[in-house]
Amino acid sequence: MQFFLDTANLDEIREVKELGLLDGVTTNPTLMARAGGDWREQAALICEMVDGPVSLEVIATTHEEMIKEAKDLVSFGDNVVVKLPMIAEGLKALNELTKRGIKTNVTLVFSPVQALLAAKLGATYVSPFVGRLDALGQSGMESVDQMRTMFDNYGYATKILVASVRHPVHVLETGLIGADVITLPYSTIMQLMKHPLTDSGLASFLADWEAFQNEK
Ligand code: G3P
Repeated sequence: MQFFLDTANLDEIREVKELGLLDGVTTNPTLMARAGGDWREQAALICEMVDGPVSLEVIATTHEEMIKEAKDLVSFGDNVVVKLPMIAEGLKALNELTKRGIKTNVTLVFSPVQALLAAKLGATYVSPFVGRLDALGQSGMESVDQMRTMFDNYGYATKILVASVRHPVHVLETGLIGADVITLPYSTIMQLMKHPLTDSGLASFLADWEAFQNEK
């Protein structure tokens, strides 16, 4: 499973990269706004820092404008993936960008049939938002499971990128379903390595060793 970091914050990206766990980064307009400053400078720095795909999202809502923005976004680096919203205009842009060999990530996906459309049009990634579905009382991961089945039934190469992740159980379920990628907020990635029994076990090993040294 590939781990992407869902952020536009350079400190978070640096830290996860140092852990060796960073396979890529996803951003969106909200995350870019949260990072502040000049978004063009920020995007260029992210693309330079990350040895892997970086999703940068279009703001336009017409396909002509999306394609214009996509041409600009890919100039930030060879690793740019153009993020497009799951709307009719986004699909038209997707069709065009696929023909031009530009990597794409179709975002704001909430149902398996939306994902099917993105796969048919050759999207590189499709991003189901599991946390936002869970919050409405629908199972985000059940939707991802259905996407996996459909993509496998037809041999679609589109990668399932699980997004809107809220907790480590989403990571577990992604692995069990066999979705290709998960994009994690910094706080969730740091939660993954934590277990109270690890902490108490280490404390007890160190205490026993110290007692043994003092016996000598
Ligand atoms: O980047 C897309 C997605 O992960 C957003 O998640 O937390 O805003 O639902 P969230």
